[in-house]
Amino acid sequence: MSEMKATPPASGVAQNEMRHIPVMLDEVMKYLTPKPGEVFVDGTFGAGGYSSAILNTGANVIAIDRDPDAIADGAELVARFDGRLTLLPGKFSQMDVLAAEAGADLVDGVVLDVGVSSMQINEDERGFSFLHDGPLDMRMAQKGPSAADLVNNLERANLTRIIGILGEERHASRVSKAIIARREVEPFSRTLDLAKVVEKAVGKTKNDRIHPATRTFQGLRIFVNSELEELAQALLSAERILKPGGRLVVVSFHSLEDRLVKRFLVDRSSEYVGSRHLPQADSRPTTFSLLKRGAVAPRADEVERNPRARSAKLRAGLRTEAQAGKPDLSIFKLADFSGVVEIPRRDA
Ligand SMILES: C[S@@+](CC[C@H](N)C(=O)[O-])C[C@H]1O[C@@H](n2cnc3c(N)ncnc32)[C@H](O)[C@@H]1O
Repeated sequence: MSEMKATPPASGVAQNEMRHIPVMLDEVMKYLTPKPGEVFVDGTFGAGGYSSAILNTGANVIAIDRDPDAIADGAELVARFDGRLTLLPGKFSQMDVLAAEAGADLVDGVVLDVGVSSMQINEDERGFSFLHDGPLDMRMAQKGPSAADLVNNLERANLTRIIGILGEERHASRVSKAIIARREVEPFSRTLDLAKVVEKAVGKTKNDRIHPATRTFQGLRIFVNSELEELAQALLSAERILKPGGRLVVVSFHSLEDRLVKRFLVDRSSEYVGSRHLPQADSRPTTFSLLKRGAVAPRADEVERNPRARSAKLRAGLRTEAQAGKPDLSIFKLADFSGVVEIPRRDA
């Protein structure tokens, strides 16, 4: 998600304005079609917007979030729904394991709303914002290496790849050069400090629609939180946990994420491995059918009410009876960051 598309952040923002407004909720509910007694996994609990809507239909929810703040804030909802909401800390890539531990081996639906919540981006201390000063952090789970650890310790070639591939910044090389030059004098610790260095390296023209640091911050955030690997693993996990007839609904906020969802659903809904036009193409049972061809965009009135919805895309699939496919990550064509050197951890 680009921060320029977020609701106005931070300083002095009233508590209720910081709450997350669920994106494309009507469309999510249309494709999820929850019924009383059914069981759903909400892999991205956030402020519980989707979970509440599902619970209000009489269905049960196993909700997951890797952010301890989201879990703590959800306690009131857990109490309100009297045993029908199970809220678990953890990663959505592990949803099959987490749901089995909560007593559900198979479920009727899985929903994911990937990216950061308004609470995360609007809270300066979480360090996601390039518009407000805060510690250079960006860790959704509040543990592991932070964005400051990356920019202060990674080799230049790795920084360039992260900013270029995950941030889609065409001036990545210039940005990494400026980062290295500055950290030799003084390490980075604050968001605005990094934003200013990036702005100077990238340059700013009056036609720019986004802040010059948008892409660099996006790349660092995606890497810090392993967002693309998490999403790819979550789709494979959802395939294992959905009943025949179960629904998968994914809302994403930028093309890197949407491409993974598309690749997965196209792969799982096509009978042929390779090209159907080639004589040697193997056929296999499909594990999903598409509930909608292509991606669904938010309605104009929603975008007007909630600018954060502007870049959202929803894709939905229906689980067939076939056994889950191979958990083969190569279908996602993820960039390989395995060579990125280990960096010192601030906490264990
Ligand atoms: C866009 S918000 C979800 C908002 C939610 N749909 C609502 O209506 O309130 C995304 C949430 O997913 C969480 N999240 C992101 N990646 C995750 C992952 N890999 N595993 C678990 N939670 C994750 C974030 O911490 C954040 O709270």
